[in-house]
Amino acid sequence: LSHDPKAMEAHNYRKDLIHRKGQVPRMTPPNLKYALIGSGRLASHLKHYFSILGIPLSTWSRRDGTPRLETIINADVVMLAVSDQALESFINHPDLQNKMVVHFAGSLYFENAWGLHPLMTFSPRLYDKSFYKTIPFVVDRGLPMKTLFPFFENPVSEIEPAQKTLYHALSNVAANFPALLWVQVFKAFDGALGLSHQMLQPMLTQILENTVRDEEKALAGPLRRKDFETLAKHEKALSSFPALAEINKAWNEWALKLMEKPQ
Ligand SMILES: NC(=O)c1ccc[n+]([C@@H]2O[C@H](COP(=O)([O-])OP(=O)(O)OC[C@H]3O[C@@H](n4cnc5c(N)ncnc54)[C@H](OP(=O)(O)O)[C@@H]3O)[C@@H](O)[C@H]2O)c1
Repeated sequence: LSHDPKAMEAHNYRKDLIHRKGQVPRMTPPNLKYALIGSGRLASHLKHYFSILGIPLSTWSRRDGTPRLETIINADVVMLAVSDQALESFINHPDLQNKMVVHFAGSLYFENAWGLHPLMTFSPRLYDKSFYKTIPFVVDRGLPMKTLFPFFENPVSEIEPAQKTLYHALSNVAANFPALLWVQVFKAFDGALGLSHQMLQPMLTQILENTVRDEEKALAGPLRRKDFETLAKHEKALSSFPALAEINKAWNEWALKLMEKPQ
């Protein structure tokens, strides 16, 4: 090891990171080096975000056909953007034992890797430059965010390990249930009605805004007015869309119960 004070500082810092989970590094990072594993949806967005921020990043995926060790050997922080099922074998791999290891699985907790979950959906299409820093991160309690990722301006909230599965289940309901319903309605607009589904966008955006702002008043339409005649007509009209009809019936029953006895 060189006696150059800067190199010594970097060396001590890395030593400090060993067996790091739950332990906040004492020193400010002198230019941490980052490696990203994986080339799926999240990895593509993270790579893009790092490039927008001008942070050097070495990357590896099994499709590259190059030795993984070459990419991670000099990294301080190794980010695992791989499928949840592959995480454990990476985290326990000897090559990663003296690194700060970060994973992005919302529902999983590991003793020896930090969880950092971006509360966002990542499509194959990259997002606008300015959007990335607005994505909230929900991180394992104690993750030294300012030390590990000092360049991230994203909103950060901490979560306890025991809450992660519930957090992930709720996020999944919020993100995927409405999206799947919308797609069915879009198809019916485009097909049965011959109306472009694009015209629903202003209303959907407004409903989302109203709901986020004032959840109590979010429920509108015949349900709120308890207009049972119209609700019965809706059920009949939806009969040629069996899946929607079934969901609509169950939904009406549930929402009426909720209105009588809010939970
Ligand atoms: N997508 C989202 O919206 C989102 C949001 C928040 C958090 N996350 C989290 O982000 C992580 C990655 O998800 P993703 O959506 O990006 O998944 P993805 O698009 O399916 O990509 C998974 C990546 O993992 C690689 N991989 C899987 N098993 C591997 C193994 N044994 N060895 C090496 N590489 C392996 C795949 O390689 P191949 O391409 O060669 O198969 C691929 O590059 C997950 O922990 C997920 O929970 C995702």
